[in-house]
Amino acid sequence: MWREGALLVVLLLLLLLVQQNCATKDEQEHGCPPSSCGKITSITYPFRLKGDPKSCGHNRYELACENNVTVLYLYSGKYHVQAINYNNFTVRVVDPGVQQQNYSSLPRYFLSQSNFSDSYSDATDPYQAGLKPINNWAWLIFQHVVFMNCSHPVTYNRKYVDTAPCVNSDSKGYYIYSIAGDLKAHDFEVGCHVKLVALTSWWGFDTNNHSYTAMHTGLVYGFEISWMHLACENHCRYKYGRLYRYGYGNGNRYCYFDYSIQNLRCPLCNRQRSRIICGILEILLFVAGGKNFIILIYLSFNYYITKN
Ligand SMILES: *[C@@H]1O[C@H](CO)[C@@H](O)[C@H](O)[C@H]1NC(C)=O
Ligand SMILES: *[C@@H]1O[C@H](CO)[C@@H](O)[C@H](O)[C@H]1NC(C)=O
Ligand SMILES: *[C@@H]1O[C@H](CO)[C@@H](O)[C@H](O)[C@H]1NC(C)=O
Ligand SMILES: *[C@@H]1O[C@H](CO)[C@@H](O)[C@H](O)[C@H]1NC(C)=O
Ligand SMILES: *[C@@H]1O[C@H](CO)[C@@H](O)[C@H](O)[C@H]1NC(C)=O
Ligand SMILES: *[C@@H]1O[C@H](CO)[C@@H](O)[C@H](O)[C@H]1NC(C)=O
Repeated sequence: MWREGALLVVLLLLLLLVQQNCATKDEQEHGCPPSSCGKITSITYPFRLKGDPKSCGHNRYELACENNVTVLYLYSGKYHVQAINYNNFTVRVVDPGVQQQNYSSLPRYFLSQSNFSDSYSDATDPYQAGLKPINNWAWLIFQHVVFMNCSHPVTYNRKYVDTAPCVNSDSKGYYIYSIAGDLKAHDFEVGCHVKLVALTSWWGFDTNNHSYTAMHTGLVYGFEISWMHLACENHCRYKYGRLYRYGYGNGNRYCYFDYSIQNLRCPLCNRQRSRIICGILEILLFVAGGKNFIILIYLSFNYYITKN
């Protein structure tokens, strides 16, 4: 009897130790002093600047400082960081080919929504194209700017905005148009091909009165991408403990950014499951996975002692 009690105490202490170890590791990650490069003065978790101590930030979110410009590598491209928004887990970047004062300058890289793996259910990339699970196009936090190269003038489709005299076709008899927003199948004109796709998170386009200067403004503003998968992991695991396995899209549990509270939510179920079952599941996971687990053990230990 005595021995069992002692064993339980040891177990309890061990558990407490494990939990504390995790807490200190977490604090270290967040406790690094922010780094700075050019106009980005607060580079902190999950980001780290190349050369920062290894314990700072997350190694998948390493930024570089090149000629006093903060640079983010994304797929085969590299982009200039304009802003890091820790409030909504987004970073705004701009293609280095786009120069503010030069309306003829074009993005260097071809990039569209389909480059991002959260367009599919098995998302593993560090950056995401949205802050919500995929349900419709409204999930994206950027829109496309599509450059079309046409063998004839297109005057009857309002979406096609003439880029001349800013951008010129290299060959005679070709016309370059730009389109903001999503290109639907019926927007494809015969004799036109996609020359370049770029992104912008600037939503100020007047759809009835497009101008190429507005599109250039959008490109100069840049586009946002998010690190919401990591943010969700951290947020939901903190709430529910280690048992929370973050499933995205078609999983039972999914996490999203709720604009009304300006924070993440991690419901355990999607709409398909009944609310009551979800509620029970949520409580069970909360009790079993989080800090409350210790309390539960402590209570049952107390009960065990007093009963014996
Ligand atoms: C780097 O950029 C910052 C902010 O734009 C500026 O204050 C600083 O003078 C720049 N340093 C160098 C060496 O260009
Ligand atoms: C995006 O995907 C396209 C098509 O696969 C590819 O050509 C392009 O290089 C990718 N963009 C970047 C920046 O890697
Ligand atoms: C994220 O926050 C920044 C700064 O507050 C804001 O400009 C941006 O529009 C927000 N992005 C999204 C997708 O809500
Ligand atoms: C503007 O951009 C175009 C296309 O990249 C380039 O050919 C031209 O030299 C640039 N002009 C200036 C003044 O930088
Ligand atoms: C437009 O397409 C034609 C034919 O493929 C090509 O010769 C021309 O260089 C293209 N123009 C631009 C600016 O990409
Ligand atoms: C369209 O935009 C241009 C430039 O922004 C402006 O001068 C013009 O008055 C606008 N036209 C209409 C019909 O709104």
